Amino acid sequence: MLRRLHPDQPDSFAFTPANRKWAEAEITKFPEGRQASAIIPLLWRAHEQEGWLTRPAIEYVADMLGMAYIRALEVATFYFQFQLQPVGSVANIQVCGTTTCMICGAEDLIAVCRDKIAPTPHTVSADGKFSWEEVECQGACANAPMAMIGKDYYEDLTADRLAEIIDELAAGAVPVPGPQNGRFSCESLGGPSNLTGHVENRMEHNGSVARAVELGDTVKRIDGTEVPLLAKWIARPEGGDNTQGNAAQPDRSEGRAPDHTGATKQEAPEQPKGHPVSKATPAPDGEKPVTLERARGGTPDNLKLIKGIGPKIEAMLNQMGIYHYDQIAAWSDAEIAWVDQNLEGFRGRISRDSWIAQAAKLASGEETEFAKRAGEDGLYDKD
Ligand code: FES
Repeated sequence: MLRRLHPDQPDSFAFTPANRKWAEAEITKFPEGRQASAIIPLLWRAHEQEGWLTRPAIEYVADMLGMAYIRALEVATFYFQFQLQPVGSVANIQVCGTTTCMICGAEDLIAVCRDKIAPTPHTVSADGKFSWEEVECQGACANAPMAMIGKDYYEDLTADRLAEIIDELAAGAVPVPGPQNGRFSCESLGGPSNLTGHVENRMEHNGSVARAVELGDTVKRIDGTEVPLLAKWIARPEGGDNTQGNAAQPDRSEGRAPDHTGATKQEAPEQPKGHPVSKATPAPDGEKPVTLERARGGTPDNLKLIKGIGPKIEAMLNQMGIYHYDQIAAWSDAEIAWVDQNLEGFRGRISRDSWIAQAAKLASGEETEFAKRAGEDGLYDKD
């Protein structure tokens, strides 16, 4: 299947303020200079907010991470989990069509989708509420056939039950996910012969279903205000060590007896070699480089032709009074430290991508390999 951007794109994208805060916190999980590692969670957040990934959303995320757009596009188009076309405003129904589900009636479920939603997959229904697609095995084969709707699984489906579920969703209800034939989870159809605790304890739902019911966000778009979803990283203290998780979490070692080494079992194990823990050490003050009030001749250099500088970082540099390649090429170590300290969210880029060497080449009229490619790909105008 071709994975291409949809021809009709919105003009813009922006995270909700809460999602933006979440995304900024997510980026802090990664060491300086490795912020691009946050690409999938950020794209997924944009996807959860809108229901699909628009081109402006992909570029917005790339800007946040200081990545070339093409690199973010590569990720977005690679994973089938990212919808690249509009989906139903209520739900995109993903029917498993792999062997077990196919044997157990997936084709009947797809027929319901064709009938009630649209004759073809990836097509929004006439009322705009639904879309559907066939997906590969979702790992719930013991409860075949099944469909994923929003964030949850609806299992042991029949064509009639799926039709009812679609009607219920259209009416604004959210049917309880999980097995739809009365099974608790994936015990044999004749009832469990062991692991019968849920029967004795009269549990209504299995753990997954109970949690889904508790969260109640099966088909809800995520705007960032959902309490359980707020990144624990947000709670870390200003300047705190962002590699150690939630500063607001309780001390798990409290009340536990230390072992013979004096450590409690709940303390984090020592980091293995090769996986150094990045400490949020304060950056040196450095020295402010010579800056300009405005670009010379009113025309700034296209700083985006320096690998590692995207539109967002370029705007930050311009705001600092840095407009030209020769300004960057002339930075001393102390000046690099100053600029780096002021590149909030993008620290470490200057040395990682060798800005100084790139800027020196560009300032002398030479072309770097990256600038050449960027120009050829039309990613950036060579202004
Ligand atoms: S085959 Fe459908 S969930 Fe595995």
